Amino acid sequence: MAKAFYLTTPIYYVNDAPHIGHAYTTVAGDVLTRWHRARGEEVWFLTGTDEHGEKVLRTAEANNVAPQDWCDRLVEEAWKPVWKDLNIANDDFIRTTQPRHIVRVQKFLQGLMDSGFIYEGKYEGPYCVGCEEFKLESDLIDGNCPIHSKPVENLSETNWFFKLSEFAQPLLDRYRNNPEACQPESARNEVVAFLEGGVQDLSISRSSFSWGIPVPWDQDQVVYVWFDALLNYATAVGLGEDSDGELGEKFKKTWPVSVHLVGKDILRFHAVIWPAMLMAAKLPLPERVFAHGWLLVGGEKMSKSKLTGIAPADITSHFGVDAFRYYFLRAIPFGSDGSFSWEDMAARYTSELANDFGNLASRATAMIEKYCDGVLPERSSDQELEKFLVDTCRKADDAFIKLDFQTGINSIMEFCKRVNGYLTEKEPWSLAKDPSRKKEIDEILYNTAESLRALAILFYPVMPTTSEKLWEMIGGNSLGDISQMKIFDVAQWGQLEPGTKVSKGDALFPRLED
Ligand code: MSP
Repeated sequence: MAKAFYLTTPIYYVNDAPHIGHAYTTVAGDVLTRWHRARGEEVWFLTGTDEHGEKVLRTAEANNVAPQDWCDRLVEEAWKPVWKDLNIANDDFIRTTQPRHIVRVQKFLQGLMDSGFIYEGKYEGPYCVGCEEFKLESDLIDGNCPIHSKPVENLSETNWFFKLSEFAQPLLDRYRNNPEACQPESARNEVVAFLEGGVQDLSISRSSFSWGIPVPWDQDQVVYVWFDALLNYATAVGLGEDSDGELGEKFKKTWPVSVHLVGKDILRFHAVIWPAMLMAAKLPLPERVFAHGWLLVGGEKMSKSKLTGIAPADITSHFGVDAFRYYFLRAIPFGSDGSFSWEDMAARYTSELANDFGNLASRATAMIEKYCDGVLPERSSDQELEKFLVDTCRKADDAFIKLDFQTGINSIMEFCKRVNGYLTEKEPWSLAKDPSRKKEIDEILYNTAESLRALAILFYPVMPTTSEKLWEMIGGNSLGDISQMKIFDVAQWGQLEPGTKVSKGDALFPRLED
């Protein structure tokens, strides 16, 4: 049984609707999983919502709504619709209030209790409700959480503790021996430095409120929201279920996670606490945690709490969904912070999407309509274009599987530019003045159509709707649905069938209104 490529996004707090920072992670996950599907791999793509804890509870209370009703409303009216609008093809959506999650968290926790990794103790110290995190004094800036720029709260509670400190050395060994496990390098260095500084045991329950999963042996306490949330990655695929049953099979097929995509602010949870929990339970560890940077506004992390959050629809209503999906991965190296600017987005939309890509598609299909009666001419080939395409596929694949989206997209764009250059050099419109040169025009246009076939498939993970439109324009459907096309077959030249109907259709990227 081949293991699936299993990718997760963080599960998002439902204290508010998604902003483009959240969409950034989810789109990256969608692009990567679509790429892996196009490699012919079986894929499992999980996203969802983190619904327990004080942050969500306080928001529900402030809105005079019961927390479960609040979560139901936000999930159905805000989160799921936004992912649908952005064309996110997740295979599952987990909510931490679902019974499947709750029972498996309790079972896991009981297992750690029974094997001696949990004890009762007293927690006294700072806590940031925005982060839902116990802080160290050394984390704070003037008594404030450095992420939320707000004062922390001082907690004093008798809680249940997880023996996290026992895992500092095994985790250090893991990151030193297996650099792939935490990326990019800057993230790994941060985690290693943190582990070298020593790790304290972790309070994993709370007693001052009840919006959470009850600790199975102590009904006065609920499970700490991060301990609950991290387990979603395993509960969603059947953690702890009978290994012979259907869910057990699912677990065997998906576990361990191939890539956890996270923002850099939640790296420690994923690279320290989470693998320690799995080590304690003797479960295989995720293959890779990748921490991406932040979208910044005014040099600070964009966030709803600071009123700097931009809703994805504010951008997609102007530029369209595919340009949104393209822009952030193209403009910001994955792993670094980046600022969003309307000007930069408009400039790239016009020069890269509308001019380089969209115009190529309309020029080529218009010429096939004009010079070939809208029918694809006889097969032909061009050695240079073919070779360029072989290299492009290799470069793009190398980059995408390393999560270097920018290089992957650039290499596809380079091919697009090359094809534009090919048309400009060959000037089929000039040849058209001489009827004896019709064969040359046919060759040029067949080669251009083949290049568009390749571009449609290569861009499909990033811009699925645009690629589907282009596929339709060049008559690609006679080869099958574009979602079924495989990256490793793209460079095989001459797949489009001569005689297929080609039509110009609408512009892939319409001119922007001011
Ligand atoms: N609920 C936790 C995650 C639990 S995962 C077991 C959480 N939720 S969150 O809604 O606050 O954030 C989810 C993700 O969105 C994080 O990866 C975070 O980095 C990301 N982003 C939130 N704001 C962001 C930006 N401004 N820019 C990029 N990503 C941002 O944390």
